[in-house]
Amino acid sequence: MNIDALDMERLRLRTGEKWTHYPPDILPSWVADMDFEIADPIRAAIECRLSVSDCGYPIPVERSPMAEILSARVAERFDWRISPGQVDLFTDVVQAIYFGLLALADEGEGVIIQTPIYPPFISATNSTRRRLVLCPLRTSPGGFEIDFDQLLDQVEPSTRILLLCNPHNPSGRCFSRGELEGLAGIALDKDLAIISDEIHADLVFEPCRHIPIASLSPEVAERTVTLMSASKAFNIAGIRLAFAVFGGDAIRKQFAKIPRHLRGGVSALSIAAVTAALTEGQPWLDEILVYLRANRDFLSRHASVNWPRAVHYPPEATYLGWFDFRGYELSPNPYVFFLERAKVALGDGAQFGDPGRGFVRLNFATSRPILEQITGRMDEALAAR
Ligand SMILES: Cc1ncc(COP(=O)(O)O)c(C=O)c1O
Repeated sequence: MNIDALDMERLRLRTGEKWTHYPPDILPSWVADMDFEIADPIRAAIECRLSVSDCGYPIPVERSPMAEILSARVAERFDWRISPGQVDLFTDVVQAIYFGLLALADEGEGVIIQTPIYPPFISATNSTRRRLVLCPLRTSPGGFEIDFDQLLDQVEPSTRILLLCNPHNPSGRCFSRGELEGLAGIALDKDLAIISDEIHADLVFEPCRHIPIASLSPEVAERTVTLMSASKAFNIAGIRLAFAVFGGDAIRKQFAKIPRHLRGGVSALSIAAVTAALTEGQPWLDEILVYLRANRDFLSRHASVNWPRAVHYPPEATYLGWFDFRGYELSPNPYVFFLERAKVALGDGAQFGDPGRGFVRLNFATSRPILEQITGRMDEALAAR
């Protein structure tokens, strides 16, 4: 795969959000899609389904191979032993978060969220009328970390859910076993359900390792629903298939109170694509992770040399760089500044909750030449202030 040769003209043929939301003079570096071509086995699997017009109603979830495939993969990748019977399908991870909020808490009850955070965590909690219990990550010289004392202070008797994002978007933290044990301890002690969004689990850079929180112990698993998907790591977010792993029957029954049809459904195309990703896609992903790691390192070197007043910690996972530009006092805010002056569309930090104000999120899942255009345009805009 010659990633360096990614062609902008070809990227602009894509009809999704990333390449159509802004006019063509803007370089998009926001929504979490990668610019890379999908893995050949995924393309072949979809083409094979299309070649026989396999676009009818798909087989029922119970008869799909998905649960076996996910169970085998998490055993191999994360040493996490689950049975296929624990696995269920959703259309996407955010949909499953909505189900979890509706199923596991009543209106007005609290949901712990570690800001800055992927914006739908906040909007889903607000729009289901659950109560935000905001527990911002704090920064130390080494990067973002969990403030356990503050988290404990925030929990009230009506707090029901820990809505965890691990690996964490946008900080890029891949929480350690110790940190996860700390969170799990609080969940056990305060009788919280855990919704664990682990969509970035396959995008972790060594030496960090992803640990599913439900793998810590049967007691933790019992109260946890783990959400996973091939969509981020294999660049198929538009394919629409996500996994929920229920650690216990009680939590699964709570979900079952919500009519199943509201989950929408997967398709023969999504089943084929995700099967190919999880069973044949690893060589592609290994190559991509090497490329992403080099981009991450390039970006943090570039930032420390050229943006000395910005604060940035190289992510341990994800392809998203999180930059604190408050030191530059960019008007009216860094997102608008870079959009208007650099013609680069970054993620607006303010959307990630209050601690994100003055920050931007930069998607570095692109070719090095495009990444250099992005950083070059940002340098020029800063120099011309
Ligand atoms: C933490 C996190 N969860 C969920 C999603 C979206 O997943 P889905 O498209 O399956 O809803 C994203 C997308 O970037 C994400 O970063």
